[in-house]
Amino acid sequence: MRRASGSSARTARDSTPRSVPLRSLAMRSLSGIQPSGEAHIGNYLGAIRQHVEIEGIYFIADYHSMTSVRNAEERREHVHELVLDYLACGFDPTGSILYRQSDLPETAELAWMLSTVTPMGLLQRATSYKDKLAAGVPADHGLFAYPVLQAADILQFNPDIVPVGQDQKQHVEMTRDIATKFNQSYGREVFKLPEPQILESVAVVPGVDGRKMSKSYDNTLRMFWPEKKLRKAVMAIVTDSTPVEEPKDTKQTVFALWSLFADEAERKEMKARAAAGGLGYGDVKKELFARIMDHFGAMRTRREELAAKPGTVEDVLRSGAERARAIAEPIWAQARQAAGVGRVR
Ligand code: ADP
Ligand code: TRP
Repeated sequence: MRRASGSSARTARDSTPRSVPLRSLAMRSLSGIQPSGEAHIGNYLGAIRQHVEIEGIYFIADYHSMTSVRNAEERREHVHELVLDYLACGFDPTGSILYRQSDLPETAELAWMLSTVTPMGLLQRATSYKDKLAAGVPADHGLFAYPVLQAADILQFNPDIVPVGQDQKQHVEMTRDIATKFNQSYGREVFKLPEPQILESVAVVPGVDGRKMSKSYDNTLRMFWPEKKLRKAVMAIVTDSTPVEEPKDTKQTVFALWSLFADEAERKEMKARAAAGGLGYGDVKKELFARIMDHFGAMRTRREELAAKPGTVEDVLRSGAERARAIAEPIWAQARQAAGVGRVR
């Protein structure tokens, strides 16, 4: 199993170690991702690649997406696309588990049980909730209770680590607090306290406008876009207006994106070329496009093949849900028994 380490940014070129069967792992890893449209390079480098590399339990958080997406067809489509993205990126659904959150509706039951021991103050301090309100998202109970559902997602598998981006750290800390409250309330160690594994070594991938690449900013590069569309988006990356002959600032977005697909020696060489002058941004964009096509070429082909096979996605999700259920079931039972709800078995 690989661990995020070191302070330097990992690049897309770093090697991908072989994963080992889930059963043989000493550490259990669990993480989720919301289905909010076809994945982009930021999602790949920031999340999906780790989920491919670290064998574990992963799920598509369709319940959570209900806090923002209010269209059933759109949600179903996003779940489908995201599963294809995972598989195309090399996710092994026989070693790891990939399931759809709503295929384990007991998660919502557990979220209720956990909500009864969750202090209001804890939820009121959630920065993601405060940020969403500040951004004008209307406050509703689902948005407020979002971290409780996330705690249920996590605790039902008693994982050791939860690999997430920095923005999710607080949610994992809240999960630990909620688990402690439940254990204390019922005098039993039903839940283990999970450790967030923060992927600090992963740089925030910039979008074509220089801000963080994000669906909500409409500044993404999607690795599975048709070639023409992807090339057009790369060529539209915002640059300053330094003339070709002059030295270039390698802090520019186009260099930052190119660097993600280059190794240390290549980056040094590029820096020298930029400092010397005579390097046009258009040339760097062309090189970036070639590298993206090279990096994702095999994945693009694989995705097309997978998309043409009806039933692939549902098969993966069905077997993922069965395997996830087998792990979660005893933990749900312990939680019910500790709380004195449900039939005594
Ligand atoms: P978006 O901002 O496009 O809606 P999400 O918030 O759904 O993306 O993020 C899904 C996952 O991808 C999260 O784990 C997040 O940390 C990661 N991620 C999203 N954007 C980036 C980025 N620009 N750089 C690195 N990781 C990212
Ligand atoms: N909130 C996470 C995000 O937006 C997705 C998520 C839901 C999650 N449940 C989780 C992540 C449990 C880790 C563990 O990225």
